[in-house]
Amino acid sequence: MHHIAKRFPGVHALDDVDFEVRPGEVHALLGENGAGKSTLIKIMAGVHAQDDGEYLVDGEPVEPGSPRAAHAGGVSVVFQELSQVESLSVAENVFFGRLPRTRYGTVDRSTLHRETVRLLHVVGLAIEPTARLGFLSVAQRQLVEIAKALSMDAKVIAMDEPTSALSYAEIETLFSLIGRLTEQGVGIVYVSHKLDELFRICDRITVLRDGRKVGEVRTGEVTREELVRLMVGRRLDSLFPRIERTVADSPALLEVRGLTSAMVRDITFSVRAGEVVGFSGLMGSGRTELARALFGLDRATGAVLLAGRPVPRNSSAKAAVRGIGYVPEDRKEHGLILVSTIRDNITLTVLRGLSRGGQVNRAKERGVARDVIERLRIKARSAEQQVAALSGGNQQKVTLARWLIKEDLKVLILDEPTRGVDVNSKSEIYRLVATIAERGVAVVVMSSEMPELLSLCDRIHVLRDGVLVDEYDHAEATQEKLMTSAIGHALGDG
Ligand SMILES: Nc1ncnc2c1ncn2[C@@H]1O[C@H](COP(=O)(O)OP(=O)(O)OP(=O)(O)O)[C@@H](O)[C@H]1O
Ligand SMILES: [Mg+2]
Repeated sequence: MHHIAKRFPGVHALDDVDFEVRPGEVHALLGENGAGKSTLIKIMAGVHAQDDGEYLVDGEPVEPGSPRAAHAGGVSVVFQELSQVESLSVAENVFFGRLPRTRYGTVDRSTLHRETVRLLHVVGLAIEPTARLGFLSVAQRQLVEIAKALSMDAKVIAMDEPTSALSYAEIETLFSLIGRLTEQGVGIVYVSHKLDELFRICDRITVLRDGRKVGEVRTGEVTREELVRLMVGRRLDSLFPRIERTVADSPALLEVRGLTSAMVRDITFSVRAGEVVGFSGLMGSGRTELARALFGLDRATGAVLLAGRPVPRNSSAKAAVRGIGYVPEDRKEHGLILVSTIRDNITLTVLRGLSRGGQVNRAKERGVARDVIERLRIKARSAEQQVAALSGGNQQKVTLARWLIKEDLKVLILDEPTRGVDVNSKSEIYRLVATIAERGVAVVVMSSEMPELLSLCDRIHVLRDGVLVDEYDHAEATQEKLMTSAIGHALGDG
């Protein structure tokens, strides 16, 4: 790709960007939220046409803005926001638009089945090809997307934050898959905010900042600090400093006793006002399910008490009225109204407080929205922009913003609060969560990222197979201890 430029109304998403990937190479794209990574990938995929510049595969120009031409050239993309058909089977999604046919023109079910079984095996996904996609987890869907890319015999596979929803084991499977693909000469374009991953699997890293290429480095010749400085344009002292807070020795604000749902069993814990309590555990250990049961989204038995008073069970509406907030893991499905403006999405939870006699004070509303957009560094043209036009990480910040401004909040449940958020904004989100806690809110954080829990939480519980197995005070918690508890035996024991 030479001198690629792409403008959207009001933003120069890409400006004079050069990018190449060679056979057998893993070339990463790194940059803050909104830097232009996904836009470049969408141009590779033919989803967007560049306004300027050349896009070549094997020396041949690829017709701009044509997904078909990109496929024909051998470029396959696993997108950040998965675009799958939930009502279809896994196999039908893998071969969407390219279903194998029999001599009679009907769908060749046996080939479809056999090929899908083979591909699912390659990506390490143990599910039936006939399973409905809608029943799969985000992680599983991501692997289905990779299986789809493999099915096209691609020369280049671009992956836009493929590991953001994968468990440790699944990430290992993906990495060994990437290793095998590069051995066969496939070029990989890899987007991730997780620097550890880039150092492990990438040969080169191209850094984008505000749509411009600010550097291209060989992985072996750069440090984390240098990468972050390139991304952010300045030095950051420490990536995730622990935010020291003192939690008053008060009685529990949130008390959970024997909470049991289809996915979690007999969960008992408490959180004091001002305390941040984290939940660690492998994928499938029940983190999200615990959050859902807690907020009343899934049917559960047991008791949830707020300041000693029971919160009516199985009603998220009643939980919200009592001052419980919830930021779900899947922002698209439960979090955001994509076709609405940023302002509407943010102020949704506080409109009542901004109103008088049924009239919303619009000036005040705009002020609140502008303020939190600035504090969270949400990259947008204005508060009136549609959420759908924001980059992935910035959408995540909008879901958080909504709760950060709610004044009568008592409990905040966060499920993967920084998925897809760049390193700099991550530490800002941590600071904001700390600020909320300091106001006396009891915060519950579910996270697959152990550094996140270690930096944010006063105490960390570990979930395994739907039950709480261990609890650590922040002073004694380490990644290794959390991992050991999560898998049930020490690392290296097989
Ligand atoms: N369809 C669109 N319409 C208008 N603006 C867009 C559109 N898609 C992207 N943008 C803007 O282009 C810029 C680059 O966005 P892009 O999605 O490429 O960022 P990114 O580097 O992938 O960020 P993230 O790490 O958050 O995924 C952002 O300012 C974004 O708001
Ligand atoms: Mg992106």
